[in-house]
Amino acid sequence: MQQENASKPSPWGENVSVEFEDGIAWVSLNRPQRRNAINPGIVWEMNAIMDALEEDERCKVMVVTGSGDSFSAGMDLKEYFRAQDGVPPIQRERLFRANAAWQWRRMMYYPKPTISMVNGWCFGGAFQFLVGSDLAVAAEDATFGLSEINWGIIPAGVVTKAVLQVMSFRDAMYYIMTGETFDGRKAAELKLVNKAVPRDDLREATRELAKTLMGKNPFVLRQAKTACRFTADLSWDQAAEYLMAKSDQTEFRDPENGRNVGMSQFLDEKSFRPGLEGYRRG
Ligand code: ACO
Repeated sequence: MQQENASKPSPWGENVSVEFEDGIAWVSLNRPQRRNAINPGIVWEMNAIMDALEEDERCKVMVVTGSGDSFSAGMDLKEYFRAQDGVPPIQRERLFRANAAWQWRRMMYYPKPTISMVNGWCFGGAFQFLVGSDLAVAAEDATFGLSEINWGIIPAGVVTKAVLQVMSFRDAMYYIMTGETFDGRKAAELKLVNKAVPRDDLREATRELAKTLMGKNPFVLRQAKTACRFTADLSWDQAAEYLMAKSDQTEFRDPENGRNVGMSQFLDEKSFRPGLEGYRRG
């Protein structure tokens, strides 16, 4: 694996590590002694990392995971909550906004594909970037929990909104109200993650998924995932109008001219079948 670009200082290293491997940026929350709980340091670092990776050619797919045996124990009760209690509201709000930025606002519309690789504990606030990322793979024995109810708060930020987007209403109510934990297999059943695999296969399964994404036309992939995010909340007529415009934009702006290349390979050359595979790129 390649570490960082020597010519330019990198915004990672203190609370988050980044490793590059054949187009994948493995972004690991790196406070294993605190089970990768999100402190202000992670918040500022993740925002800077997402800025940097957006322009970094070594990153075609961003994978977010945790160091050690935890994905993330959610927000840091000491540094993100208690330590902020006496801080002037304007500063506290700035921190909360910065957290919302990396965990869901930017994550949801990130120009590159994102995958959460859930390798262990996943609690509370961690659900925001879990749902914010495009796809998610979990270890079968990872442990998930909406633990807020256990210590006297509600799943705020947008945790409640996030779980409602992927889980059924009944399941969201159940886990929000009971705080009961569930494992990776159940998370896949609940549609919180795309799939769960044995722990030993987790990295390889994630790598394979990233490679599949890297085989696609990156501009069209970006347009498709953005369209998916926005269309969910539109009426049918609005969706039809929006998707037609997005589709035209995709055709006109695609640097690979994928639509015509694909059609030509299928209709003229008869060299591939789009139902079964992608067109030959570049
Ligand atoms: N905030 C602050 N510190 C934390 C957090 C957290 N969310 N999670 C773990 N830590 C710290 C512990 O205080 C402990 O610190 P210490 O070594 O100084 O005592 C250290 O990390 C290790 O934690 P343990 O509890 O000893 O680790 P264990 O592996 O036994 O348990 C577990 C892990 C289940 C994740 C447990 O730490 C836990 O319940 N953490 C809180 C999970 C949670 O409810 N998160 C908040 C969700 S709400 C929200 O995010 C808005």
